[in-house]
Amino acid sequence: MIPPSLVLQLVIALISSSFSLGSYQHSPLPNDFSHPIHETGDDYRTFGSKFPSLIKSEADIHVFESLAHVGVPQVGAPTASPKMVNVDDFGARGDGTDDTEAFKKAWKKACSSRAVLVVPANKVYHVKPINFSGPCNPDFKMTIHGTIKASTNPSDYKKDPRHWLVFEDVHSLAVDGGGTIDGNGRVWWQKSCKINEHLPCRGAPTAVTFDRCNSLRVGSLRIKDAQQMHLTFRDCVDVVASHLMVIAPEKSPNTDGIHVSGTQNIKIMNSVIRTGDDCVSIVNGSRNVQVTDIICGPGHGISIGSLGKDGAKNYVSNVIVDRAKFSGTTNGVRIKSWQGGSGLAENITFQNIEMHNVSNPLIINQNYCDQKKACPTRHSAVQVKNVHYRNIKGTSASEVAIIFNCSSNFPCKGINLQDINLVRDGGGDVEASCKNVLQTTRGRVSPHCF
Ligand SMILES: *[C@@H]1O[C@H](CO)[C@@H](O)[C@H](O)[C@H]1NC(C)=O
Ligand SMILES: *[C@@H]1O[C@H](CO)[C@@H](O)[C@H](O)[C@H]1NC(C)=O
Ligand SMILES: *[C@@H]1O[C@H](CO)[C@@H](O)[C@H](O)[C@H]1NC(C)=O
Ligand SMILES: *[C@@H]1O[C@H](CO)[C@@H](O)[C@H](O)[C@H]1NC(C)=O
Ligand SMILES: *[C@@H]1O[C@H](CO)[C@@H](O)[C@H](O)[C@H]1NC(C)=O
Repeated sequence: MIPPSLVLQLVIALISSSFSLGSYQHSPLPNDFSHPIHETGDDYRTFGSKFPSLIKSEADIHVFESLAHVGVPQVGAPTASPKMVNVDDFGARGDGTDDTEAFKKAWKKACSSRAVLVVPANKVYHVKPINFSGPCNPDFKMTIHGTIKASTNPSDYKKDPRHWLVFEDVHSLAVDGGGTIDGNGRVWWQKSCKINEHLPCRGAPTAVTFDRCNSLRVGSLRIKDAQQMHLTFRDCVDVVASHLMVIAPEKSPNTDGIHVSGTQNIKIMNSVIRTGDDCVSIVNGSRNVQVTDIICGPGHGISIGSLGKDGAKNYVSNVIVDRAKFSGTTNGVRIKSWQGGSGLAENITFQNIEMHNVSNPLIINQNYCDQKKACPTRHSAVQVKNVHYRNIKGTSASEVAIIFNCSSNFPCKGINLQDINLVRDGGGDVEASCKNVLQTTRGRVSPHCF
């Protein structure tokens, strides 16, 4: 039998080898990770050539889905391996009763003893909100083979209504294992003001949050049906997130896939993200962000912002999105900011991207307004500068494939387009709508601003 972790690895690996666009060189993105992080980039390419028949298409996902339910042999502990701390040894049962206390105790033990915290396969553990706090002993690892499922009782979240699982102040941590983290979010979606407009707009918990962590690796996991956002990195440094499958229904409100805030040196790669909101969102204080080999859709696409809400001064810089595929998303690659903010979004590259029936494939919107009442006109804006779009092909679901809606006081500067070819899904022309943008083009760019 194939363990689900391997299947997850395979499926996502194959997805990355299925990108057919010619690749441009990576932009010289500062890659000054102070602690080099070991990556297993070669393994999945090898898998790709061994199992070409799996590459096909969306069917990959179903391969994963069905195999993920197949039983997995218990991970045997090879003689030289580190000590295992199993949640079951601390009273976790995975039988529908509350496993929260067992997880807390097991974490405490593993964190202080350089061990691997193991969540066994083939069981569903029910857990209320937990703060997994560090610092721990270095090279600490949490291996999730089974499923961790969230409580749906709002009173369990009284202490902190915005978070479910939080990892905080942990250094050199790895979380992986091929298992599932299930936010069980339906009850929260139904209470969202975006679903029922008579209800007040209240935030729901983020399923998994990493706060102030550094040298962090998160991989080979499925994160599904979050209460609100799925996975957030906040104020972290040196992060690799890879081989993730992030899945929620298209209609689930505000269920961003991966949210990056105040985080530096982060790579998000080889992942599939299908949710009801942004696939990846990158907000204030984030720098050196690489997003590569990502499949998005449904959802709202990859977004920088929103920035500058309520007059905030926000900064995002050095972001590259390379090799991404969007299907049926409302946006492709987007930069969005509110009027009245300030700060800067600069040095951003979007390249080697396929769009399939995307409503707004390329969009910069300095007039973003996501609230019930209209947003008043404001003088200031977050400056958008040095944005490169290269080798972007595919189809637009709307007639306007490119929107640059920039502010008259702070026009978008240094917008470069090269080799862009977008057509209407099902045939027909598309256009570009451009306001207050200073741009240059190279190669064939269609559509383009006049
Ligand atoms: C987790 O920590 C935060 C702040 O550090 C606190 O507000 C919250 O109540 C804690 N949550 C739980 C479940 O203990
Ligand atoms: C923006 O991010 C920076 C760097 O993380 C932080 O110092 C600043 O407080 C943030 N600004 C706002 C308005 O949150
Ligand atoms: C953006 O790129 C320019 C030109 O390469 C560089 O001078 C500038 O420092 C970069 N900005 C940031 C915030 O790294
Ligand atoms: C393309 O997207 C539009 C709008 O989202 C949708 O109505 C249409 O059915 C999609 N077409 C295909 C072929 O999926
Ligand atoms: C640009 O933003 C303005 C102000 O919100 C809005 O009225 C206009 O419709 C937008 N244009 C496009 C093309 O989206």
